[in-house]
Amino acid sequence: MCPPRFYRVAYVINPWMEGNIGRTDGAVATQQWERLRAELARRAAIEYAEPAEGLPDMPFTANAGLVHDGTFIPARFRFPQRQPEVPRLTSWFGERGYRVVSLPSGGTFEGEGDALFQPGVPLLWGGYGVRTSLQAHRDLSELLDIEVIPLRLVDERFYHLDTCFCPLPGGRVVYYPDAFDHDSLETIRVRVPAEQRCEVDATDALHFACNAVVVGDAYVTNFASPALQERLAGWGFQTVVCPLTEFILAGGAAKCLVLQLTHPGARRPAAAPRRPSAVRERMVEIQGDLLDTGLMNTLLDCITEGGGSFEIEAFQAGLRHDQASLARVRVVAPAPERLETILTRLVQMGARVAEEDRDARLEAVTRSGVAPRDFYSTTIYPTEVRVGGRWVRVTGQRMDAVVVVDGRTDPPRASCRLLRALTVGDRVVCGIEGVRIHPTHVPAAGETFGFMTADTSSERRVELAVDRIAWEMRRVRDRGGKIVVVGGPVVIHTGGGPHLARLVRRSYVQALLAGNGLAAHDIEQALFGTSLGVDLKRGINVQGGHRNHLYAINLVRGSGGIRQAVERGLIREGILYEARRAAPGRRARGARAPVHSSSRAPRWRALRGSFPRASPGPRRTAPPDANPFPQPARMTSAR
Ligand code: ARG
Repeated sequence: MCPPRFYRVAYVINPWMEGNIGRTDGAVATQQWERLRAELARRAAIEYAEPAEGLPDMPFTANAGLVHDGTFIPARFRFPQRQPEVPRLTSWFGERGYRVVSLPSGGTFEGEGDALFQPGVPLLWGGYGVRTSLQAHRDLSELLDIEVIPLRLVDERFYHLDTCFCPLPGGRVVYYPDAFDHDSLETIRVRVPAEQRCEVDATDALHFACNAVVVGDAYVTNFASPALQERLAGWGFQTVVCPLTEFILAGGAAKCLVLQLTHPGARRPAAAPRRPSAVRERMVEIQGDLLDTGLMNTLLDCITEGGGSFEIEAFQAGLRHDQASLARVRVVAPAPERLETILTRLVQMGARVAEEDRDARLEAVTRSGVAPRDFYSTTIYPTEVRVGGRWVRVTGQRMDAVVVVDGRTDPPRASCRLLRALTVGDRVVCGIEGVRIHPTHVPAAGETFGFMTADTSSERRVELAVDRIAWEMRRVRDRGGKIVVVGGPVVIHTGGGPHLARLVRRSYVQALLAGNGLAAHDIEQALFGTSLGVDLKRGINVQGGHRNHLYAINLVRGSGGIRQAVERGLIREGILYEARRAAPGRRARGARAPVHSSSRAPRWRALRGSFPRASPGPRRTAPPDANPFPQPARMTSAR
């Protein structure tokens, strides 16, 4: 451990630190750290590293490296702010007789924060995707000669594996599923039987319940819900809660403050089989308008979305508009099949697997209408395959077909063929070696070839984004910050109006930036329940409903503005109504009554000028078959 004498939030390198610069309380931090230290000291021997001025994150010793069997492997921090911690900790270990071995490749590595031993067995769980690279896990597996299981982190709030995953003795794990991608979750579920797994919910996870130090039968943590404590008790663990709120301001808690010096059982017994790393890599090359078409970004996104990591080995930019750029990219994936999936997509974008001028691999069809298992599936783009050392242009190019090669002719012929047209003996291109594509337009991720390839459905992604924004809004509000919403008419079209209105009313929004689109739709909805003539409750077009839009605009114009229309009681709900009600000038008069309170109505009605009021009342109570939009008519007749 390292005392927090110089601990504070001095920069932002994770989402927790945002807005917290200078907000830590040194005295409280020291107390909290002391308490953690005392709890651990009752159960284990502790050694201390000297803190250093100017290295405020140094108390998070878990990130400085990894210890295994007397060897210290120093970290390679992603952010420069933390890099100077490494030589200090490295000398500390050197002076105490540890063997110091650095990771060979250039990838980042954030120590035990992203490398957790399964207690008692030679198995390391490796987090990657935010701070640590996949290459580091491959290197660790070789260096330590043990199995490393890479797990990909997909939520920046859980940027280190130890923020969302905690291995326990007896082959057990506590973890937060939403922090991982689909394949990693599958891996955890395959490797750990259900009764050994404890999945925590967002409340536990966001209070760093997984970030625990496990000593003997104690689970030492900042927080654990009753449900989690009960589960742990069932497993024979006692939860020891040590509040570490000051450290959460920097994105760390109990586990982050500790680097474990011994891992009994983590060495592979000589008799046990070797488990070579499943991490694989390949070099690809791509040439073309990589920058102006955004192809380079699409390519890199495709690698990370496929669960891989990359290193750009070389990049030669085309300096004039008629010059192509050239990139050499090392693609690293957690397992051979995942590398294949990523490479297939890259080849479809026009990349070529480098270091490799091999012929396309051909396999014969053994049942008519059925292709060999890993056949290359075609795209719409011009394609060539390499046969007998020569590149042959594929004829009859189309999507969703296979390439059949006829090598008996000279030159050999290659053509696209539908699955159902395959006959026994046809030789089909398999894999991606010896295939090259010349895309004319490469769809960005999400377009055509990206469709349905994502890990999560779009609904799920929206849900995650909403969850993340809600988390940030609460944090901003808790520290007295201000929130600005920039909204467009889609907020209303999609039924979000009442929700945004409620956020304004509950003072989660301090400023609204919008064009006349949002305003007109919001007011139309407040008056008539439609948005550009579509009934928002029933999702149908109401006859002549588009007129409502213009009536709404006209009503505002007639009042002299939105503010006046609200003050006269013509607009009685909606986003702009709430925004006006919440405006500083209004609040001074204490006008914060609930929207539909009748107590407010008389005073507002008194303000009403000559312009007729469009009562929202009848719309709410009208039977479904009645004309749901009587107001415009009434408005005109009232004139
Ligand atoms: N502020 C530190 C960082 O972002 C916190 C490190 C927390 N450590 C941990 N093992 N999760 O690097």
